[in-house]
Amino acid sequence: AAIEKGNYRHFMQKEIFEQPTVVAQTLRSYLRPIEQQVALPQLDFDISKINRVTIVACGTSYYAGMVAKYWFEQFARTPVDIDYASEFRYRAPVLEPGGLALFISQSGETADTLAALRHCKAEGQTIAVLVNVPTSSMAREADLLLPTHAGPEIGVASTKAFSCQLAVLAALAAHFAVRKGRMTHDEEAEVVKHLMEAPAALNAALAHDDEMAAMAPLIAPARDVLYIGRGPDFPLALEGALKLKEISYIHAEGYAAGEMKHGPIALIDEAVPVIVLAPSGPLFEKTVSNMQEVRARGGKIVLISDREGLDEAGEGCMAKIEMPRVHPLIAPLVYAVPVQLLAYHVAVSKGTDVDQPRNLAKSVTVE
Ligand code: G6P
Repeated sequence: AAIEKGNYRHFMQKEIFEQPTVVAQTLRSYLRPIEQQVALPQLDFDISKINRVTIVACGTSYYAGMVAKYWFEQFARTPVDIDYASEFRYRAPVLEPGGLALFISQSGETADTLAALRHCKAEGQTIAVLVNVPTSSMAREADLLLPTHAGPEIGVASTKAFSCQLAVLAALAAHFAVRKGRMTHDEEAEVVKHLMEAPAALNAALAHDDEMAAMAPLIAPARDVLYIGRGPDFPLALEGALKLKEISYIHAEGYAAGEMKHGPIALIDEAVPVIVLAPSGPLFEKTVSNMQEVRARGGKIVLISDREGLDEAGEGCMAKIEMPRVHPLIAPLVYAVPVQLLAYHVAVSKGTDVDQPRNLAKSVTVE
């Protein structure tokens, strides 16, 4: 059946709003809530013997991989290497025996990612594939196929596939950690509990759609926009900047908050909005102190945090967007929503072609 927009104006908007449902759907096949365990498809290799993970992807899928690197290292204490597929395939990556190569792709057809997969396969790596299209070329070549259940994604800029990728990656990192003896059953149960909270938290984040729409006219005239975050929310800053570039054609950059002072802070003046992703958690104070440095130089701050964070640091911001208070594990999923909505509403207010942005393709099957 043809996929319809229903009551939505654009596919991208519909897909943003589908996230609570499709993340829940995806989690259902990776979690056993009663046993409080993570469940992976049957493996025909011993995952506890994996001593290194190499993640390869492009675009938004690459940013999901960047978040996963934090989780694999934190939970499983296993070294992770990550690269863009177009770089990976032409450098001389060192692939030692016992490595897992993980390819992340909405379409499962991106030419560079597929070529990287075949290279890793030839080098004897175990191949894990995280795709939204289970019949795709990458899926067919996997030793371990991890499907996301986001449903067809039509908007060229990826949204719901990204949050579903994150959900699976969190489950995979936890499973891996358990099998490596790095995570106890109680800790696994905590991970399951927090992941189960994600759909409701995504709904709460979506409830701020009107505020994001009201804020869009403040951002739309900007020539440059910066996004900053730390830790697993740093890739969200990159993803936010990518979304804005893709559909609104505004130049945007994502930066690790602590790197601002090493260059980008020179760009700051009253004309540059800075979107700060600062969920409560171990890195909150650090991110806020980087935000203060920006504000002291006249930067216009949009602070995205939870109630506690906004109360503590929101004074003097151009705008404040309240997210639900969530465990740091699921913050990257939840904070995907405001960066997607911001890009969406800015693009709508600029009148660009949201679902079919110029020069971009949904799936890049040529090099
Ligand atoms: C294109 C799309 C992006 C996507 C990227 C990777 O550039 O416009 O939205 O993130 O390809 O695609 P994949 O299907 O491999 O995730």
